[in-house]
Amino acid sequence: MNETAAPPHPADSDMRRDTVVRALDVSRVYELGGETTHALRSVDLDIFRGEYMAIMGPSGSGKSTLFNMIGGLDKPTAGMVFIDEVDIAALDSFELAWLRCRKIGYIFQSFNLLPMLTAMENVVMPMTFANTDPDEARDRGYDLLQKVGIGDRWSHRPGRMSGGQQQRVAIARALANEPAIVLADEPTANLDLKTGADIITMLKQLCAEIGVTVISATHDHKMLDICDRVVWIRDGAIERIELRENLDIHVGVFEEDRTNEDEGAGT
Ligand SMILES: Nc1ncnc2c1ncn2[C@@H]1O[C@H](COP(=O)(O)OP(=O)(O)OP(=O)(O)O)[C@@H](O)[C@H]1O
Ligand SMILES: [Mg+2]
Repeated sequence: MNETAAPPHPADSDMRRDTVVRALDVSRVYELGGETTHALRSVDLDIFRGEYMAIMGPSGSGKSTLFNMIGGLDKPTAGMVFIDEVDIAALDSFELAWLRCRKIGYIFQSFNLLPMLTAMENVVMPMTFANTDPDEARDRGYDLLQKVGIGDRWSHRPGRMSGGQQQRVAIARALANEPAIVLADEPTANLDLKTGADIITMLKQLCAEIGVTVISATHDHKMLDICDRVVWIRDGAIERIELRENLDIHVGVFEEDRTNEDEGAGT
């Protein structure tokens, strides 16, 4: 009865992979004040169900732009994004709102909790949008707050919580509607080292337990220890995609390697 199949490991062959997000030749150009920025250039990317993917790259390389494309928060200038094989550009505004509410949970650097609502009310809110029965939403809200380790703070407002506690509320909120995908943009950027490590570990556990796909744009090298794959982006293009197994070989001397590589590239 408990024999649920483990999600396919990203190291498995392509044939066995179940793609949950597909970006096809995605470009995004910003025109601002007469200036043109190619934030993404022909990005092709498949993300597999149940995997933990880190999107890494220097500031301005296009991580948040890619995040916004995958999350249906912005539209590509060219190319297509599929979520569960649905072309999100083909959705009307109602369908897109449904997808954002039911399929995707969002976590942001600045937590983005509503300050006038308690932790519980923040977590319950997306369930209200999804027409969940109020009692069920409250029960699930409490379970989620317990799961992220702050059940005892359910009645606190964000202003009375630490950054780490607020991010835990944001994670609980992201999971409220049992999404297939959790998108986290720099989830540890406003946290100290230890709290950031706790948040990363928690995301990894949730990814494994619930089978949710986690996609995180980050500068945080702690993420490298736990993700399944890393997409390195630079100047809006994918530089390379690496499996963690391959990354482990040089993760200890990672900074040094990158510096040497960069220096080598410039010569
Ligand atoms: N709304 C916008 N209008 C104009 N240019 C933008 C806009 N959003 C992003 N850009 C530009 O697109 C490029 C990619 O930005 P993006 O925010 O995706 O980078 P990032 O990798 O997330 O950076 P960071 O690590 O600093 O968050 C940058 O050159 C940025 O200035
Ligand atoms: Mg960003």
